[in-house]
Amino acid sequence: MGFGSTTLALYAAGAAALAASLPKLKSRLRLSQAKHPSLSGHARIARRIAALVPFYEYGEARFFCCDDAPGEIAARRRAAFMRLAELYRTRFAETVRHSAEVADGISDLQFTNAYRVPFQFSRFVRKHLRTGAFVQASSGVTLADLDGNRLYDLAGSYGVNLFGYDFYKGCMDRGLRRVHELGPVLGIYHPVIAYNVKRLREISGLDEVSFHMSGTEAVMQAVRLARYHTRRSHLVRFCGAYHGWWGDVAPGVGNPVPAHETYTLKEMSEDSLRVLRSRRNIACVLVNPLQALHPNANAPADSALVDSARAAHFDRQAYADWLKRLRAVCSERHIVLIFDEVFVGFRLALGGAQEYFGVKADLVTYGKSLGGGLPIGVLCGRKELMKRFRDDRPVDVCFARGTFNSHPYVMATMHEFLRHLDTAEVRALYSNLDAVWNRRTQRLNQRLRDEELPVQVANLSSIWTVCYTQPSRYNWMLQYYLRAEGLALSWVGTGRLIFSLNYTDADFDAVADRFVAAAKAMREDGWWWCDGATTNKSIRRRLLREIIAHRFSPSGGGATPA
Ligand SMILES: Cc1ncc(COP(=O)(O)O)c(C=O)c1O
Repeated sequence: MGFGSTTLALYAAGAAALAASLPKLKSRLRLSQAKHPSLSGHARIARRIAALVPFYEYGEARFFCCDDAPGEIAARRRAAFMRLAELYRTRFAETVRHSAEVADGISDLQFTNAYRVPFQFSRFVRKHLRTGAFVQASSGVTLADLDGNRLYDLAGSYGVNLFGYDFYKGCMDRGLRRVHELGPVLGIYHPVIAYNVKRLREISGLDEVSFHMSGTEAVMQAVRLARYHTRRSHLVRFCGAYHGWWGDVAPGVGNPVPAHETYTLKEMSEDSLRVLRSRRNIACVLVNPLQALHPNANAPADSALVDSARAAHFDRQAYADWLKRLRAVCSERHIVLIFDEVFVGFRLALGGAQEYFGVKADLVTYGKSLGGGLPIGVLCGRKELMKRFRDDRPVDVCFARGTFNSHPYVMATMHEFLRHLDTAEVRALYSNLDAVWNRRTQRLNQRLRDEELPVQVANLSSIWTVCYTQPSRYNWMLQYYLRAEGLALSWVGTGRLIFSLNYTDADFDAVADRFVAAAKAMREDGWWWCDGATTNKSIRRRLLREIIAHRFSPSGGGATPA
């Protein structure tokens, strides 16, 4: 073979290799296009970047003017901050004292305390504006702390509190009495379970049910079954969506190991549908309908409130259309469509998100409120997907376990919860739920606009997130003003407010009055001072510069000089 023919052969081999890799390249490109441009859309990069961000904080002088506010404004902020600190010290004295005593031994508490506000402000805030982690009683729509303060509950127990705490107390009293004779016997059932299974089948429109101890476990089981039955490896979740803290559904920051068999795709995007249509390794798609309020964004928390870029807007029709298109592609490609209704399940409609958006899923997870006040996770699904063994391969099984699954007490409180759903009172409540909550939200937003306050709220039925309409570094302060007005928020602050459905118009008006008062006080105290030139982008650019400067400073972090 001469030189010419060798070259030709090499070219031919090269061309063949290129042709063979083209479909792979195309598929890779399609996947890249379906990723959301934000860091949440790029789990691996986000983890790497997170590991590079150094700790630094604003010294006391800079704390009050990191936006270059003039001295008079900084002084006003400082005086207000110290006044608020004094108020917290006296009003929440016992509650804070108890919390401080146990904090050292409760990792959860240390974490939540540290992440209430952006990290540059956190230590100073923790020192002066300590929030307690104790309450001693609940009634109506309020909580009582250890100092006897009554606070309107906007934390909603992470969404569990749907019908009001008194309702769950009733479920627990009656439920525990009902199964008292059996007690905590596990592995076999109390007859109370039969009604739960019947109702859950009706509500979900699906064939079978499995009981778990948390929403996280219900989701784990849903994904495991989808992989087992499709014999495919990958799950698709959408950017920003929370599905519990199991690693495969929580790639990126917060999870120390990469999730190799998870695709995080853009929600409400044709690009993502193209990926679903073309890849053969996708077992299931997970949807958290709560994302309809802020597609592709992480659950909003005030620790990430570094500027005013938080955005939220719910468009029921657009989200329903998206789910319909997603449903069609999943059916076409035999991909299991999982609705994770752990959060929104019974909050939107009696038949959950499936009914609310008019789309059927193959598997549905529920949790939170369904437990009637006790811990729960439930998976409902089509018969052929719920099966944990194969008739033709008897050893190829799919386990689901959990010592406390189907605990008689939980089954009994769930029974009470489900029976309540059958009442005329609840049917009436659901019939105009959105109208009630949209009207309330609009009323408050109008008041905020009338007062020219730079705050608006966005809602998905009774779930709220607070948005800020003018660039600011200090929006996270609002949570402390709201608490001072007697509103109880969860540790994510104004990112998520959750109302129980027993809020009357009068209760809501009282909350709205306090909300407006808090925002007005915050404005009076100078936190929303603005030079007119600052934008969210310029704030972020500046933060990036700070981070880079601290990263490469000889001390590797610390306080930013005034
Ligand atoms: C949509 C969704 N899925 C799963 C979970 C996890 O549930 P759990 O906290 O009971 O494990 C949550 C919890 O907030 C959730 O909102």
